[in-house]
Amino acid sequence: MQEILNKLQHHGPLEYEALGRLLEEMDFTIVDYESFLPEITSPANYARNILTLMPIEVVLIHWPASVSSAVHHHRGFWGYVAVLRGSFENVEYIHKEGVISERQTTRGTRGELMPEPDGILHKICNPSGEESLVTAHFYYPALENMDNMVIYDLENERIGTLNDKANTASWSEPDEHFKRIQENAFKFVPGKTKNSDV
Ligand SMILES: [Fe+2]
Repeated sequence: MQEILNKLQHHGPLEYEALGRLLEEMDFTIVDYESFLPEITSPANYARNILTLMPIEVVLIHWPASVSSAVHHHRGFWGYVAVLRGSFENVEYIHKEGVISERQTTRGTRGELMPEPDGILHKICNPSGEESLVTAHFYYPALENMDNMVIYDLENERIGTLNDKANTASWSEPDEHFKRIQENAFKFVPGKTKNSDV
Protein backbone atom coordinates (compact mmCIF):
# COMPACT_ATOMS: atom_id res chain seq x y z
CA MET A 1 0.00 0.00 0.00
CA GLN A 2 2.83 2.35 0.86
CA GLU A 3 4.26 1.80 -2.60
CA ILE A 4 0.96 2.90 -4.19
CA LEU A 5 0.86 6.02 -2.00
CA ASN A 6 4.44 6.87 -2.98
CA LYS A 7 3.64 6.45 -6.67
CA LEU A 8 0.63 8.76 -6.44
CA GLN A 9 2.66 11.29 -4.48
CA HIS A 10 5.31 11.24 -7.18
CA HIS A 11 2.77 11.93 -9.95
CA GLY A 12 0.92 14.77 -8.23
CA PRO A 13 -2.63 15.72 -9.32
CA LEU A 14 -3.90 13.81 -12.35
CA GLU A 15 -6.87 14.10 -14.68
CA TYR A 16 -9.61 11.46 -14.48
CA GLU A 17 -8.39 9.36 -17.42
CA ALA A 18 -4.70 9.64 -16.49
CA LEU A 19 -5.38 8.49 -12.94
CA GLY A 20 -7.33 5.54 -14.36
CA ARG A 21 -4.41 4.56 -16.58
CA LEU A 22 -1.96 4.80 -13.67
CA LEU A 23 -4.17 2.66 -11.42
CA GLU A 24 -4.77 0.12 -14.21
CA GLU A 25 -1.02 -0.54 -14.22
CA MET A 26 -1.06 -1.51 -10.54
CA ASP A 27 -1.61 -5.04 -9.32
CA PHE A 28 -4.26 -4.82 -6.62
CA THR A 29 -4.13 -8.55 -5.90
CA ILE A 30 -0.84 -8.17 -4.04
CA VAL A 31 -1.42 -5.02 -2.00
CA ASP A 32 -0.31 -5.28 1.61
CA TYR A 33 -3.15 -3.43 3.37
CA GLU A 34 -3.59 -5.32 6.66
CA SER A 35 -1.85 -2.72 8.83
CA PHE A 36 -4.11 0.04 7.41
CA LEU A 37 -7.36 -1.89 7.70
CA PRO A 38 -10.00 -0.07 9.79
CA GLU A 39 -11.78 -2.16 12.37
CA ILE A 40 -15.46 -2.86 11.81
CA THR A 41 -17.34 -1.38 14.75
CA SER A 42 -20.90 -2.13 13.59
CA PRO A 43 -22.07 -5.09 11.50
CA ALA A 44 -24.51 -2.68 9.81
CA ASN A 45 -22.05 -0.11 8.49
CA TYR A 46 -18.68 0.11 6.80
CA ALA A 47 -15.47 1.45 8.41
CA ARG A 48 -13.10 3.92 6.71
CA ASN A 49 -9.46 4.78 7.10
CA ILE A 50 -8.21 7.83 5.19
CA LEU A 51 -4.59 7.13 4.21
CA THR A 52 -3.85 10.44 2.53
CA LEU A 53 -5.61 13.54 1.16
CA MET A 54 -2.74 14.75 -1.04
CA PRO A 55 -2.52 14.92 -4.00
CA ILE A 56 -5.69 12.81 -4.09
CA GLU A 57 -7.64 11.11 -1.35
CA VAL A 58 -6.89 7.46 -0.73
CA VAL A 59 -9.25 5.73 1.65
CA LEU A 60 -9.43 2.11 2.67
CA ILE A 61 -12.94 0.76 3.31
CA HIS A 62 -13.81 -2.40 5.21
CA TRP A 63 -17.33 -3.69 4.49
CA PRO A 64 -19.03 -6.25 6.74
CA ALA A 65 -21.03 -9.03 5.01
CA SER A 66 -24.13 -7.81 3.14
CA VAL A 67 -23.45 -4.11 3.84
CA SER A 68 -24.02 -1.35 1.24
CA SER A 69 -23.25 2.34 1.13
CA ALA A 70 -26.28 4.57 0.74
CA VAL A 71 -27.05 5.61 -2.81
CA HIS A 72 -25.00 8.79 -3.19
CA HIS A 73 -24.33 11.40 -5.81
CA HIS A 74 -20.82 12.33 -6.96
CA ARG A 75 -21.27 16.06 -7.33
CA GLY A 76 -17.94 17.56 -8.34
CA PHE A 77 -15.73 14.64 -7.32
CA TRP A 78 -14.63 11.53 -9.14
CA GLY A 79 -12.34 8.56 -8.72
CA TYR A 80 -11.86 4.82 -8.79
CA VAL A 81 -12.38 1.86 -6.48
CA ALA A 82 -10.02 -1.12 -6.37
CA VAL A 83 -11.13 -4.40 -4.82
CA LEU A 84 -8.48 -5.76 -2.43
CA ARG A 85 -10.48 -8.59 -0.87
CA GLY A 86 -13.86 -10.19 -1.50
CA SER A 87 -16.36 -9.25 -4.15
CA PHE A 88 -18.24 -6.04 -4.78
CA GLU A 89 -21.29 -4.79 -6.61
CA ASN A 90 -21.81 -1.31 -8.02
CA VAL A 91 -25.44 -0.37 -8.66
CA GLU A 92 -25.92 2.74 -10.81
CA TYR A 93 -29.10 4.81 -11.02
CA ILE A 94 -30.58 7.51 -13.23
CA HIS A 95 -32.41 10.48 -11.69
CA LYS A 96 -34.60 12.05 -14.34
CA GLU A 97 -37.64 14.27 -14.02
CA GLY A 98 -38.21 13.38 -10.39
CA VAL A 99 -37.93 9.62 -10.98
CA ILE A 100 -35.01 7.41 -9.94
CA SER A 101 -34.53 4.08 -11.68
CA GLU A 102 -31.77 1.48 -11.85
CA ARG A 103 -29.41 1.80 -14.78
CA GLN A 104 -26.96 -1.07 -14.40
CA THR A 105 -25.18 -3.32 -11.93
CA THR A 106 -21.49 -4.11 -12.25
CA ARG A 107 -19.78 -6.86 -10.28
CA GLY A 108 -16.10 -7.41 -9.61
CA THR A 109 -13.66 -9.34 -7.48
CA ARG A 110 -10.16 -8.96 -6.03
CA GLY A 111 -7.77 -7.01 -8.22
CA GLU A 112 -10.43 -5.23 -10.26
CA LEU A 113 -10.84 -1.49 -10.69
CA MET A 114 -14.15 0.32 -11.02
CA PRO A 115 -14.57 3.92 -12.16
CA GLU A 116 -16.69 6.45 -10.26
CA PRO A 117 -17.02 9.33 -12.76
CA ASP A 118 -18.22 12.79 -11.73
CA GLY A 119 -22.01 12.91 -11.66
CA ILE A 120 -22.55 9.20 -11.00
CA LEU A 121 -25.47 8.24 -8.75
CA HIS A 122 -24.71 4.86 -7.23
CA LYS A 123 -24.18 2.58 -4.29
CA ILE A 124 -21.48 0.02 -3.55
CA CYS A 125 -22.45 -3.27 -1.91
CA ASN A 126 -20.79 -6.28 -0.44
CA PRO A 127 -23.00 -8.99 -1.98
CA SER A 128 -21.52 -11.75 0.19
CA GLY A 129 -23.55 -12.85 3.19
CA GLU A 130 -20.44 -14.29 4.85
CA GLU A 131 -17.21 -12.61 3.83
CA SER A 132 -16.10 -9.04 4.33
CA LEU A 133 -15.04 -6.82 1.44
CA VAL A 134 -12.01 -4.51 1.41
CA THR A 135 -11.78 -1.70 -1.15
CA ALA A 136 -9.29 1.11 -1.79
CA HIS A 137 -10.83 4.36 -3.06
CA PHE A 138 -8.98 7.08 -4.97
CA TYR A 139 -10.87 10.41 -5.09
CA TYR A 140 -10.30 13.87 -6.44
CA PRO A 141 -10.75 16.42 -5.09
CA ALA A 142 -10.19 14.98 -1.62
CA LEU A 143 -13.21 15.00 0.67
CA GLU A 144 -11.96 15.95 4.09
CA ASN A 145 -15.32 15.03 5.54
CA MET A 146 -18.86 14.14 4.45
CA ASP A 147 -20.11 17.75 4.60
CA ASN A 148 -22.68 18.32 1.81
CA MET A 149 -22.63 14.67 0.66
CA VAL A 150 -26.10 13.93 -0.75
CA ILE A 151 -27.52 10.48 -0.06
CA TYR A 152 -30.74 8.86 -1.25
CA ASP A 153 -33.14 6.55 0.58
CA LEU A 154 -34.89 4.71 -2.27
CA GLU A 155 -37.33 2.83 -0.07
CA ASN A 156 -38.68 5.93 1.66
CA GLU A 157 -38.05 8.29 -1.28
CA ARG A 158 -36.05 10.85 0.71
CA ILE A 159 -32.82 12.73 0.13
CA GLY A 160 -30.43 13.55 2.97
CA THR A 161 -27.60 16.06 3.02
CA LEU A 162 -24.91 15.09 5.53
CA ASN A 163 -22.88 17.53 7.61
CA ASP A 164 -19.23 17.43 8.67
CA LYS A 165 -19.99 15.19 11.69
CA ALA A 166 -20.97 12.23 9.47
CA ASN A 167 -18.39 9.45 9.19
CA THR A 168 -19.94 7.49 6.34
CA ALA A 169 -22.33 7.98 3.41
CA SER A 170 -25.01 5.98 5.15
CA TRP A 171 -28.53 6.28 6.55
CA SER A 172 -27.30 4.62 9.73
CA GLU A 173 -25.71 7.98 10.66
CA PRO A 174 -27.67 9.63 13.54
CA ASP A 175 -30.04 12.57 12.85
CA GLU A 176 -27.56 15.16 14.12
CA HIS A 177 -25.16 14.16 11.32
CA PHE A 178 -27.61 15.49 8.71
CA LYS A 179 -28.00 19.10 7.57
CA ARG A 180 -31.42 18.37 6.14
CA ILE A 181 -33.65 15.52 5.03
CA GLN A 182 -36.09 16.12 2.20
CA GLU A 183 -39.16 13.86 2.31
CA ASN A 184 -41.10 12.82 -0.85
CA ALA A 185 -38.09 13.96 -2.85
CA PHE A 186 -38.56 11.61 -5.84
CA LYS A 187 -40.33 8.50 -7.06
CA PHE A 188 -38.36 5.25 -7.18
CA VAL A 189 -39.13 2.85 -10.03
CA PRO A 190 -36.79 -0.18 -9.85
CA GLY A 191 -36.92 -0.77 -13.64
CA LYS A 192 -34.84 -3.16 -15.65
CA THR A 193 -31.22 -3.64 -14.64
CA LYS A 194 -28.43 -4.46 -17.03
CA ASN A 195 -25.86 -6.74 -15.39
CA SER A 196 -22.21 -6.86 -16.29
CA ASP A 197 -18.85 -7.88 -14.90
CA VAL A 198 -15.89 -5.49 -14.71
FE1 LIG B 1 -19.19 6.65 -4.82
